[in-house]
Amino acid sequence: MHKLLAALIFAGSAAVTAADPSSPVQPRQAATTLSVDLSRTFQVMDGFGTSEAFQRAVQMSRLPPAEQRKALDLLFSTTNGAGLSILRNGIGSSPDMRNDWMVSIAPKSPGSPDRPLIYEWDGSDNKQLWVSQEAVHTYGVRTIYADAWSAPGYMKTNGQDSNGGNLCGLSGAPRCATGDWRQAFADYLAKYVEFYQQSNVTITHLGFTNEPDLTYASMRWTGAQAAEFIRILHPTLQRSNLTHKPLITCCDAGGWQQQAGMLPSLAPVNNMLGIITAHSYMSQPNFALSTPHRVWQTEAADLQGAWTSAWYQWGGAGEGFTWANHVYQAVVNANASAYLYWVGVQTGSTNSHMVHIAGNYERVEPSMRLWALGMWSRFVRPGAVRVGVSGAPGSLRTAAFRNVDGSVAVVVINSGGNARVAARVGNLAAGKTPVRGRAWVTDASRAIVEVATAFADGVARVDVPSRSMVTVVLYPDA
Ligand SMILES: *[C@@H]1O[C@H](CO)[C@@H](O)[C@H](O)[C@H]1NC(C)=O
Ligand SMILES: *[C@@H]1O[C@H](CO)[C@@H](O)[C@H](O)[C@H]1NC(C)=O
Ligand SMILES: *[C@@H]1O[C@H](CO)[C@@H](O)[C@H](O)[C@H]1NC(C)=O
Repeated sequence: MHKLLAALIFAGSAAVTAADPSSPVQPRQAATTLSVDLSRTFQVMDGFGTSEAFQRAVQMSRLPPAEQRKALDLLFSTTNGAGLSILRNGIGSSPDMRNDWMVSIAPKSPGSPDRPLIYEWDGSDNKQLWVSQEAVHTYGVRTIYADAWSAPGYMKTNGQDSNGGNLCGLSGAPRCATGDWRQAFADYLAKYVEFYQQSNVTITHLGFTNEPDLTYASMRWTGAQAAEFIRILHPTLQRSNLTHKPLITCCDAGGWQQQAGMLPSLAPVNNMLGIITAHSYMSQPNFALSTPHRVWQTEAADLQGAWTSAWYQWGGAGEGFTWANHVYQAVVNANASAYLYWVGVQTGSTNSHMVHIAGNYERVEPSMRLWALGMWSRFVRPGAVRVGVSGAPGSLRTAAFRNVDGSVAVVVINSGGNARVAARVGNLAAGKTPVRGRAWVTDASRAIVEVATAFADGVARVDVPSRSMVTVVLYPDA
């Protein structure tokens, strides 16, 4: 039973941090008290993540072993990386691995949906199995999201696994000479999950569409067609002998508005759906989607800009500080339970990835976009509940979370001048006051570096430099 505490408290910090009498510095600036309210609860967080689909994992595997390890550490380590907790894999649909295609687990058509699919599991899955096994077994990642951009071409109205087209057999789709492939595609997806299970990786979430509102590398679905397929996929998974039945996600629409438009048609199958997923390209996540399910922002990136590793220059689309704010908007303003940047590690000259493969597959270089995500992901762990926090002036954006282990993370993004905050939990029962506080900063010169914290009486006081992000964690025990 927590009682609500007064929302806004201002406290001077002079008593805690004594000024050094030998230096003629200004008196310490007063701290703004950020008061966390554990009784105001919002969404549960599933985590933060990225993808190595479309042979980005193959690119990672071409690095020297020490750089492969560094790349994996940068993505998943909670001590010297971003501590990402979700990996999004692409379920292949292509006949081979030309270009950046993801080869299918059943690349050749059996000729008819009445004949069994011809599986060719290569134990690699475009090197995504390796990244998945590392994520799960080395770094403790528990959320593996497998998503199909398309069905194999032989199951589709346009005969290819790109350029739109529909799954054969869906209502409203052109008829296919070979028949109705809906059940075959559901079986195919279940089989993919089974191959991973046999390789000791549990796929926890399964999607069957990517940007169904766009025509390029995937296939098209209306909301009604997605619901029609979920009615086939869900029982297929339930009667499979998978030891862990993945939750079904839908629909990875190109934008938040586009996903909102599909929701009314999905309402009748809400009991078969696990997670609503949407991207940030066509429209930004700036409102809560109307659904009883958790919502994930599953793809966002600066696809246009030239590669930059900068934190802040002028607020450019690829800068780390910009991405710290994008995550804030999705989590606080759009109720997102997860936030995924499109690609983790890859070659190339745009900002579509967070970690750059430089030279001729010689080494990896992180951008500050990675550390922006890490400022959330390292400290807001899966299962955390977003809770209320008040007291911030307009120049500070704040969000607070109660982790499963009882620690409370307070994220602060400062778009103004130098500031100082005093973070406290405002409504804890007596004897439950935090006993320790730590804080980490990311700014133009630091990437998740622990900074000095003055801690007393359950309150952590810390400097939040201009244009920085600081995450304060208050611990219930030592
Ligand atoms: C999966 O785990 C089992 C039991 O530990 C082991 O025998 C098997 O080799 C593993 N398979 C893979 C592909 O890692
Ligand atoms: C059940 O799983 C095993 C191994 O994972 C597989 O070989 C078998 O075909 C599956 N059975 C059915 C009925 O799907
Ligand atoms: C936020 O998402 C949760 C599910 O995670 C849902 O129960 C809640 O109603 C959503 N809040 C808003 C404001 O839509």
